[in-house]
Amino acid sequence: MNTFKSSLIKNGSYINGNWQTQCAEKFSVSNPADGSIICDLCDGNEQDAESAVAAAHAALPAWRAKTVKERSVLLRRWFNLLIENQDELATIMTLEQGKPLSEAKGEINYGANYIEWFAEEAKRVYGDTIPGPSPEKRIVIIKQPVGVVTAITPWNFPNSMITRKAAPALAAGCTFVVKPAMETPLSAIALAVLAEEAGIPAGVFNVVVSSQSRKIGAVFCSDPRVAKLSFTGSTEVGSKLLAQCAGTIKKTTMELGGNAPFIVFDDADIDSAVDGALASKYRNAGQTCVCTNRILIQEGIYDEFASKLTEKVKSFKVGNGLEKDVIIGPLVNIKAAESMESMVRDAVAAGASLLTGGNRSDLGECFFEPTVVSGVTMRMNIARDEIFGPIASLIRFSSEEEAIAIANDTVYGLASYIYTRDIGRIWRVSESLEYGMVGINEGIISNEMAPFGGIKQSGMGREGSKYGIEDYLEIKYLCMGDLDK
Ligand code: SIN
Repeated sequence: MNTFKSSLIKNGSYINGNWQTQCAEKFSVSNPADGSIICDLCDGNEQDAESAVAAAHAALPAWRAKTVKERSVLLRRWFNLLIENQDELATIMTLEQGKPLSEAKGEINYGANYIEWFAEEAKRVYGDTIPGPSPEKRIVIIKQPVGVVTAITPWNFPNSMITRKAAPALAAGCTFVVKPAMETPLSAIALAVLAEEAGIPAGVFNVVVSSQSRKIGAVFCSDPRVAKLSFTGSTEVGSKLLAQCAGTIKKTTMELGGNAPFIVFDDADIDSAVDGALASKYRNAGQTCVCTNRILIQEGIYDEFASKLTEKVKSFKVGNGLEKDVIIGPLVNIKAAESMESMVRDAVAAGASLLTGGNRSDLGECFFEPTVVSGVTMRMNIARDEIFGPIASLIRFSSEEEAIAIANDTVYGLASYIYTRDIGRIWRVSESLEYGMVGINEGIISNEMAPFGGIKQSGMGREGSKYGIEDYLEIKYLCMGDLDK
């Protein structure tokens, strides 16, 4: 058992302002860097999920009735507390998730920024007036909170994937219940401790920690008191949740899988493209939906780009995220490391060549070496599937048309990247890419001011930006008649 202690960690769910820490069934949270148990938590069940939904439903009228300024002030306090506790929150995250501490600190900041942003956007939920169809009529549009929102969030970004759903929901006047991933519930618990300290009323923000994802998900998707489900995770699970939500016609936001192309043209600034590819590919050890999955390089610069990229990847320090200068931490679990191994093996068997890495690391069961694979084609699994690990796969192309065709040859449509100095090409390619987001000479595109989201089987809805709050609002049309009397 790990000896780490923090006042931001409680041993169970946070429902209606109460901590559920007495129970018979528990589950353990472990550190992927060394397999040690960090702590045991009360395992939330279906009754807990129902209680959380009931609490959110009961808290809704009073929360919705607050002025936007009142909600905004509470959100701002929550934001301040995240920033004040950034170091402790980051340590908790690295312990349970594995990412390097510097990245964890970055994520706390990123997550907090969503709360700050939506504390401000709360004040800008404007309605509309529309010319009426006849002299005695007027049309007025108001916007109202959708109601109780449930969320299911992933282990790869244990803080920010919660805040970017909870902040717009609370800002809009909705109440909220989240079930975080069972691998990383401590960051969610810490968020609830700080929400309570900020003065967010009981029942407005609830956390159900549980190892029983399917059962909790079933309550979230079927309870008629729930108006909306917001999910970040795989396309496979997202599609099942969508089917379950159909029964009660819930609104949904789905942020699902990706297969991001990173296209480098002959005229690109190669050093800048290499740095962009490294940042996009190896952030969070490659466990990111917007991570570069396929690096498409034009033939004239292929060898130079491949060699520069490989040299830098060879210099990456792999290790426990709490150690200094570590760039690549452990993967989430052994299964993930095994999956990297088999993807590389299959690609090499199909004709690709290994420029560096390719093996499980002897640092621990969940570690995989940062890897570069050259000569990848779209017939290989490594190009078709979402890698979700530290493997860069390099694909050679000759023309702009060919690059676009390869880039779009996938069911996914989340993030894409292009590197070129040609302004005409920037527009042509950006408009042709079937993706919700395009990084242009830039490998890091995520921030609270921009609309994050995908098309095709990468999901629906947008998170962040002025558009992000719309997903938590209903439009109501008021038709005023008889005005000529
Ligand atoms: C994700 O991987 O789902 C989110 C990544 C990000 O916000 O950049």
